[in-house]
Amino acid sequence: MLRSLDRSKGRFGSVEDITKSQPEQHPHLAMERDQGMKRDRDDRPQVLILGGQGRIGQSVAADLLRHTRAQLLLTSRTQQSDRQSEQMRLVTVDLADHLTLRRLIAESQLVIHCAGPFRYRDTRVLEFCIECGVNYLDVSDDRTFTQRAMQHQAAATDAGVTAIVNTGVFPGISNSLVRLGVEQLDQLDRIHLSYVVAGSGGAGKTVMRTTFLGLQHPFTVFRGGEWQTVRPYTEPEQVEFPPPYGRSTVYWFDMPETLTLAHSFPAQTVITKFGSVPSLYNYLTWLTARFPASVIQDSRSVEFLATVSHRMTQISDRLTGIGVAMRAAVYGEKRGQKGYYWATFSHPNTAVAAGQGTGSIAQSLLSGTLHHPGVWAVEQALPTILFQQTLQERGLAIHQGWQPVGENPRALQDSADPLSN
Ligand SMILES: NC(=O)c1ccc[n+]([C@@H]2O[C@H](COP(=O)([O-])OP(=O)(O)OC[C@H]3O[C@@H](n4cnc5c(N)ncnc54)[C@H](OP(=O)(O)O)[C@@H]3O)[C@@H](O)[C@H]2O)c1
Repeated sequence: MLRSLDRSKGRFGSVEDITKSQPEQHPHLAMERDQGMKRDRDDRPQVLILGGQGRIGQSVAADLLRHTRAQLLLTSRTQQSDRQSEQMRLVTVDLADHLTLRRLIAESQLVIHCAGPFRYRDTRVLEFCIECGVNYLDVSDDRTFTQRAMQHQAAATDAGVTAIVNTGVFPGISNSLVRLGVEQLDQLDRIHLSYVVAGSGGAGKTVMRTTFLGLQHPFTVFRGGEWQTVRPYTEPEQVEFPPPYGRSTVYWFDMPETLTLAHSFPAQTVITKFGSVPSLYNYLTWLTARFPASVIQDSRSVEFLATVSHRMTQISDRLTGIGVAMRAAVYGEKRGQKGYYWATFSHPNTAVAAGQGTGSIAQSLLSGTLHHPGVWAVEQALPTILFQQTLQERGLAIHQGWQPVGENPRALQDSADPLSN
């Protein structure tokens, strides 16, 4: 039931020829090369985690340390700690330093890009990976970045490079939950994906920036068989989530899943909604979404709001925790019966869950069980069986079921969700 994304041909920018690189300009690289960074004596693969010293990058690293034998190279722009080990080394590099970046990529077997916010990122890292024949993952959560990355589909396919964007928990595990549901149905009608996050979700300030960037503009959603424009944080719905969240309010939010799920599956409608705990944050976000465009679209305002909200969550996280819960409901027909298939997932630490979502795909790429050249969203590349296996290895559970709705027409309307109201 997968339907392919529009893959217009991407254009490559020229890159520096690193063979002309002068080692004395990059002393740490020369040193690393001398130490034989690409593979150690055991021939372990090297995984480069860009932004690996940030919150999500660290979670990805923790998962890989637990589930793979890979040598990890974690980057940041400034030295964040001295916690190095034989299996994990730290390096400072700015994404703007293309020479060093390309060199590190060429020395690796897998690159995991965690250095957001992705709204501001070009696809240079992906392009370098394609040129160097290195597999690529990212934790991007921005629709415009996803569109830019997808333009490299043909080049990645030709190069035999598997590149998967939007990995993590949401997007990431959320996409696989939907695929799981779609595969249960004979006929697909509508997808309703929603999630709720407690406080900061354990993520860094970058995630706060991403949230406010997501409020800046109306965005398009696929509803009733056509693309329509909606405003962020509108059309609230009550959705029943797994404990401890229970019934929580979610709102339209611009996410990559809104785009990719509509391209991946033949649904007439794709609804993607987001909410926060405590509900005070929902109210504040709702209010912010109604600020004048001149305020919310100003980068200084976004920075200010991200700083303030990050400080607030540092306090409220102690009360609410930093968990996540999500629910995918996929409507359609199964053996002649109308209904919806539902699947839920929850985790007490959003950042850890994101690390596990990305780590499980990295593990499959490194072991060779996943090889799918091209640039893909998670639901297009990751077979459900692999998704389930790797989650199980991490002790993570998905609850699921089929709910017949009979001939109740309201249950299959776009705006009326039997899970809500
Ligand atoms: N898919 C998912 O499930 C999911 C979930 C949560 C978050 N995310 C995304 O994950 C990303 C990271 O979030 P986070 O909480 O880990 O943020 P964070 O703690 O602020 O970490 C960001 C990391 O990126 C690095 N970085 C930023 N700009 C850079 C540049 N120009 N060059 C090199 N490195 C740079 C930072 O280095 P410095 O330490 O030197 O600043 C830091 O290591 C965000 O974009 C977020 O939206 C995805």
